[in-house]
Amino acid sequence: MFELNNKTALVTGGAQGIGKAISCALAKQGANVAIADIDEAIARQTADLINKEYGKAMAVQADITDIEKVKKAVATIKEQFGPVDILVNNAGWDRMIPFVKTTPEFWDKVIDINYKGMLNCVYSVIHDMIEKNHGKIINIGSDAARVGSSGEAVYAGAKGAIIAFSKSLAREVARNQITVNVICPGPTDTPLTQQMKDESEFATKVLSKMDKIIPLGRTGTPEEIGAAVVFFASKEADFITGQTLSVSGGLTMS
Ligand SMILES: NC(=O)c1ccc[n+]([C@@H]2O[C@H](COP(=O)([O-])OP(=O)(O)OC[C@H]3O[C@@H](n4cnc5c(N)ncnc54)[C@H](O)[C@@H]3O)[C@@H](O)[C@H]2O)c1
Repeated sequence: MFELNNKTALVTGGAQGIGKAISCALAKQGANVAIADIDEAIARQTADLINKEYGKAMAVQADITDIEKVKKAVATIKEQFGPVDILVNNAGWDRMIPFVKTTPEFWDKVIDINYKGMLNCVYSVIHDMIEKNHGKIINIGSDAARVGSSGEAVYAGAKGAIIAFSKSLAREVARNQITVNVICPGPTDTPLTQQMKDESEFATKVLSKMDKIIPLGRTGTPEEIGAAVVFFASKEADFITGQTLSVSGGLTMS
């Protein structure tokens, strides 16, 4: 079940946090995992861990906001592992700031990383997927896009754009047997949420209430997102496309 032997998986932002757990989970199921991250040093550490413990991985440095760098990374991955079968757009970034206190520069950064970065990655692999008549695209959204989140208005907008794009792309490429789905984590313990708390009392206040708000009574783990990614990447999910799945302890129910 959920066997991914010899599939090439590209995980953006796979060095740490949710992306690391996704990379490990895919490797455990037999995929050759390429970790594309802006932080090459941590990406290498994660690739080394996978090669030692779980399967096969490589690290490649890439800033997903720069399409030329993404194309170069995809070419390197293709040389070593073959064309990408599974693309997981996981890299993301945010800070918790009320919208009235944000700046246009902040909006650009949030939209460039969370939305346009995903477009760059999809565009760089989809032509090969169409040629192979097969592919799995899994985009990491956020429950912020589904229910809203105080202090994350721009980020929630960018993640909402990911959901709308994914449904539209799913319709366009279904004829090529390429599926496109979105996984929305709720609050999940990662270096990102730790940084948000470290830098802002407001973030600490909002995030500390989550255990009471989430029906299952706790925040999520990166491994719980990894498990959902493995499912969407598998043959067992071949008939599922254009869907949005929240992995958030019941924070979103729709
Ligand atoms: N942690 C949460 O509570 C939570 C909730 C909902 C959604 N998400 C989403 O899950 C995904 C992973 O989040 P996380 O919490 O693990 O974050 P994280 O900051 O812990 O890890 C993100 C990774 O992305 C990499 N990255 C950042 N900018 C990049 C760029 N321009 N190019 C390439 N790599 C880049 C970082 O180096 C890092 O390795 C993100 O899309 C985030 O929006 C997280």
